[in-house]
Amino acid sequence: MSDSTSRKSPIIVITGTPGTGKSTHAQLLAEESPVPLQHINVGEWVKEKGLHEGYDEEWQSYTVDEDKVRARAARMHAGYPLKKIQENNEAEIMDVVIDEARASYAEPIVVELKSEGMEDLQSNVARIVQWIEAWQKDRGLAA
Ligand SMILES: Nc1ncnc2c1ncn2[C@@H]1O[C@H](COP(=O)(O)OP(=O)(O)O)[C@@H](O)[C@H]1O
Ligand SMILES: [Mg+2]
Repeated sequence: MSDSTSRKSPIIVITGTPGTGKSTHAQLLAEESPVPLQHINVGEWVKEKGLHEGYDEEWQSYTVDEDKVRARAARMHAGYPLKKIQENNEAEIMDVVIDEARASYAEPIVVELKSEGMEDLQSNVARIVQWIEAWQKDRGLAA
């Protein structure tokens, strides 16, 4: 696994309850990023590559095998921390996703973004692009 000192592109984790704009943000960001970024939909990835412990009838969803996800991510030369989150509308109201993210990562790297319209989408992606440029500059990688 390559570590943060040898990586040429950052790992950006986008989390949130279903339907809040994660895929839309990831697609636009992959297009506009100054460094090559690959958009991985972890939910689809888990299904396609079988990175799960089976289908849970009660939850009507796959039970993610985090060790398999990590092992798969390591083989792509990119660490991909995954916090399994039971996503539902209640979670959004209860701030479960943001609380879990803050509990899992160092406080300054967790950024909560509003996504309530196309202007938010554009400004969020522009902000992440700026962050990537600063990330490159910090590592002497700027073009
Ligand atoms: N910032 C936004 N404002 C309004 N609609 C959005 C925004 N981002 C996404 N959408 C729309 O909301 C729906 C769900 O977005 P999607 O990116 O698939 O969410 P997720 O991947 O989080 O489930 C899509 O129809 C998408 O076009
Ligand atoms: Mg999605």
